[in-house]
Amino acid sequence: MTKFTVISGSSSEDLAKKVAKKLRANLIKSQLKIFPDGESKITLNEKPQKNKIIVIQSTYPPVDEKLIQTLAIISKAKEYGTEVIVVIPYMGYARQDREFLPGEVITMKVIANLFKSVGTSKIIVVDIHSLLGLKYFKIKTKNVSAIPDLAKYISKLKLKNPLVVSPDKGGKDRAKEFAKILNVEYIFLDKERNRKTGKVKIKSTNFDQIAGRDLILVDDMISTGGSIIKATEFLKKQKCNRVFVACTHALLRNDAENKIKKAGVTKIISTNTIPGNTSLVDISGMIVKAII
Ligand code: R5P
Repeated sequence: MTKFTVISGSSSEDLAKKVAKKLRANLIKSQLKIFPDGESKITLNEKPQKNKIIVIQSTYPPVDEKLIQTLAIISKAKEYGTEVIVVIPYMGYARQDREFLPGEVITMKVIANLFKSVGTSKIIVVDIHSLLGLKYFKIKTKNVSAIPDLAKYISKLKLKNPLVVSPDKGGKDRAKEFAKILNVEYIFLDKERNRKTGKVKIKSTNFDQIAGRDLILVDDMISTGGSIIKATEFLKKQKCNRVFVACTHALLRNDAENKIKKAGVTKIISTNTIPGNTSLVDISGMIVKAII
């Protein structure tokens, strides 16, 4: 009997396959049917063995649908498993981790309680927006960093005098870690987001280090692309060479990929927490390390 059984939700089939292969675990897929009224119906293809079960499902858009599907799979897995470890490669709602404006619901807290109530023993996430989000889970948690894998990919590109840039102060430590692996310098910009409209602007003044260099803009996620576009426009004005974007989660909503390319970005590199055109970096190895 293998030690683990992996159950994949429909949003992370490829990643689940890679994780199961590395763990030499049995892989069970789930069938998803959406009823005309929008309800999700999930059926596991096989009955899991009574051992440690790993559920893998990313909650990228449609986020609410994916979340309810994930909770449903976990509750079924709990009927069989002695322990249910849940891997959420992209955790939706992680940006709603505090009350920014009076009256706002901290939805991350609500979601955390739901994961516990359906029987999650431990939750593993990848580069969650902020570690505060994990504090709401009253179970074991682990945040996996995709930075080493992203940096390894970038290190193979032939970049000209590279400089790592974070589009905001909140990403400073991420940029620092990335730059350390590449053994290059880093800077961070001063970004301001209007909490009501969501619009961003860069408030930084010019930097001496930018002109003529290839830049790597590092972020945890791209949603609408607003942050990356504003940062790229700011950096291009200062006569940088090429701009590469390395991020863990590429949601790329509202035609963001085209808009980012139009702003002058040479290439977007993201991970397979969200499968798509830009997901060039596989993080299954890091997930396996967090499981065993
Ligand atoms: C913000 O603090 C995050 O790290 C990302 O920079 C942000 O969520 C990306 O969103 P968008 O692409 O819509 O600017």
